[in-house]
Amino acid sequence: MIDFRSDTVTKPTQAMREAMMTAEVGDDVYSEDPTVNRLEIMAAKIVDKEAALFVPSGSMGNQLAIMTHCERGVEAICDTLAHVFHYEMAAAGLLSGVQLHPMDNLHNDVGIHNLSDHIREPLGYLPKTRLVCLENSLNRAGGTVMQTEQMAVVFRLAREYGLKVHLDGARIFNAALALQCDVSDLTCYTDSVMFCLSKGLGAPVGSILAGSKEFIAQARRNRKLLGGGMRQIGILAAAGIVALEDTSHLAEDHEKAQYLAKGMSVLPGLHVELEKVQTNMVMVEITKMPVQKFTQLLFEQGVAVSG
Ligand SMILES: Cc1ncc(COP(=O)(O)O)c(C=O)c1O
Repeated sequence: MIDFRSDTVTKPTQAMREAMMTAEVGDDVYSEDPTVNRLEIMAAKIVDKEAALFVPSGSMGNQLAIMTHCERGVEAICDTLAHVFHYEMAAAGLLSGVQLHPMDNLHNDVGIHNLSDHIREPLGYLPKTRLVCLENSLNRAGGTVMQTEQMAVVFRLAREYGLKVHLDGARIFNAALALQCDVSDLTCYTDSVMFCLSKGLGAPVGSILAGSKEFIAQARRNRKLLGGGMRQIGILAAAGIVALEDTSHLAEDHEKAQYLAKGMSVLPGLHVELEKVQTNMVMVEITKMPVQKFTQLLFEQGVAVSG
């Protein structure tokens, strides 16, 4: 079976499994797991933040960021395509009492300058805007990337209005590769960043939330509140360290995505917007048959895709 459904279906490498087997561990709720501590220091350095926190999933990392940056009853602006808006089970409202305020094209030149129109005026009957959530690369837009200059525009505007900026960087390493820059060239325009060690980086579990020391100290408390305080998780952090030590295979993923997209773009009944294939995703419009039929036919040929 060739599994193209998602980059979440990756499996840990032999090196990861060996590192997991021999990892030194301790109780991470006491911050005494040396492997977790090593991973957190390493991750903070990569994204050029003061501190980092190992969390079970990307969703928890994003939700901790929202909970930690915001008090109840405020708003966080995000793109209409954002993962936090579509795929996190309305958690911002449910867990943090935060209303998401989606806007179109927050990630590109078409809409970025409209951001200030979505920041609430300080009127007695309006919610306060507290946070902007960016996503780079933007999953639902086909893994397209937000340029460093665009991130800088958002960051400057956010600062002007006293807002914080959180980056859902689940695939920030893919974005940096596509932009030929360092991850820290993107994260410098944020107050906090979440990135996934699973997905393209290949670790079996875990994400990182990074930010200032003070922010991470509070996020650590909130992680415990949500039941995410974990004990001897050095065995998981060990795989994360291996994942961060060598990210060179991501380039191969991007090349394969290009190859697949170009091949599919010339087939009848399929439409691929090649300029949107920028990282490790290929989105294809099926024009001649129902999507379910297409995915079923592929499945019968040993190819799994997400419809
Ligand atoms: C952009 C983005 N953010 C966050 C997440 C959440 O990650 P997790 O599945 O680890 O909760 C995903 C997962 O696919 C994602 O694509």
